[in-house]
Amino acid sequence: MLTRAIPSTGQALPVIGLGTYDVFDVQGTPAEIADRRTILDALTGAGGSVIDTSPMYNRSERIVGDVIADGGDRGDFFLATKVWTTGREAGVEQMRRSAELMQTDVIDLMQVHNLRDTETHMTSIRELQDEGRIRYSGLTHYRADALSNLAEEMRVYRPEFIQINYSLAEQEAARRVLPMAQDMGIAVLINRPYQSGDLFGAVRGRDVPEWASEFAASWGQFFLKFIVGHPAVTCAIPATSKPHHMRDNLEAGFGLLPDEATRQRMIDFIRTL
Ligand SMILES: NC(=O)c1ccc[n+]([C@@H]2O[C@H](COP(=O)([O-])OP(=O)(O)OC[C@H]3O[C@@H](n4cnc5c(N)ncnc54)[C@H](OP(=O)(O)O)[C@@H]3O)[C@@H](O)[C@H]2O)c1
Repeated sequence: MLTRAIPSTGQALPVIGLGTYDVFDVQGTPAEIADRRTILDALTGAGGSVIDTSPMYNRSERIVGDVIADGGDRGDFFLATKVWTTGREAGVEQMRRSAELMQTDVIDLMQVHNLRDTETHMTSIRELQDEGRIRYSGLTHYRADALSNLAEEMRVYRPEFIQINYSLAEQEAARRVLPMAQDMGIAVLINRPYQSGDLFGAVRGRDVPEWASEFAASWGQFFLKFIVGHPAVTCAIPATSKPHHMRDNLEAGFGLLPDEATRQRMIDFIRTL
C-alpha cells in the first residue's frame, strides 16, 4: 500500500485505515467479533494498520481490543484513540482506561476529541509521551465551522497529528488547514471521507466516469483517491462494518493517484450532480 511519512518522525503510515464510529459499537457476539476479525485481517493483509476509535464511540475501544486479542497481533496496528472529557484527572483516567480496553501498554496516537479541554489534555498527553505510554499527540474535529479554532490550536499546541473532515463533499480544509499542516510538519488523518456515507447517495445510479477508470474501480475508491491525492494527507479512515467494503476501501491505497488537474475534474464532476 502507498504510505506517507509522519513528518515528526519519518515513520511510514499506510494511506488507508479504518474508522470505528458506530460500526464497532456492537455487543460483541461471536458473529460480530468474527466479522470484525475479517475486517482487520483485510486491513493488515493489504498492508494497512491505522485504526481510529474514541471513548465517545461506546463499546468500540473494547471491541477493537477484543478483536485484536482474538488471533491478531497488536504489533500490526497503529492504534489511535481520543480523550473526550473535561479536567485533568478525568482525562488521565480515561486515557488509562482506553489502553486497558484496547489491551495495549502503549497507545500510538492520543487525540483531543473535538478540541474539548485541549490545554489540560495536551499537558497530560505530553507527560504520558515522556513516560512512553503514548507515541503521538493529536487534535480532532469533524466540522468545517471548527477549522479556524483548530488552526489556532495547531499554532499553540503544535501536535504531531490533526484529524479533520475533508472529502469531495466538504472541501473547506483545503483552503487553510491542510496547507498549514504541511508547512508545520503535522500529519493529517481524514475523518468522514464519505461524509458519513452520504456521498454514495449523491452518485446512486451512476457509474464511475470513464476518465477515472485508470485509478478508481468503484465510487469508494474515487472518493478516497481524491482525499489521499492531496499531498498534506497522511491517512484516510473510512468506517465500515462490512468486510467487502473494507477490501474496496483498501484498493484506494494502491495504484495511480489523481494529479491536481484530475482532482479539479473530480470536484467539477461532483458539482454537476
Ligand atoms: N471528531 C472526530 O474526531 C470524528 C468525527 C467523525 C468521525 N471520526 C472518525 O472518522 C471515521 C470515519 O467517519 P464516519 O464514520 O463519520 O463516516 P465515513 O467513513 O465517511 O462513512 C461511513 C459510512 O460509509 C459506508 N461505507 C464504508 N465503505 C464503503 C464502501 N466501500 N462502499 C459503500 N459504503 C461504504 C459505511 O457503511 P457500511 O458499514 O455498510 O460499510 C458507513 O455507513 C469515524 O468512524 C471515526 O473513527 C472522528
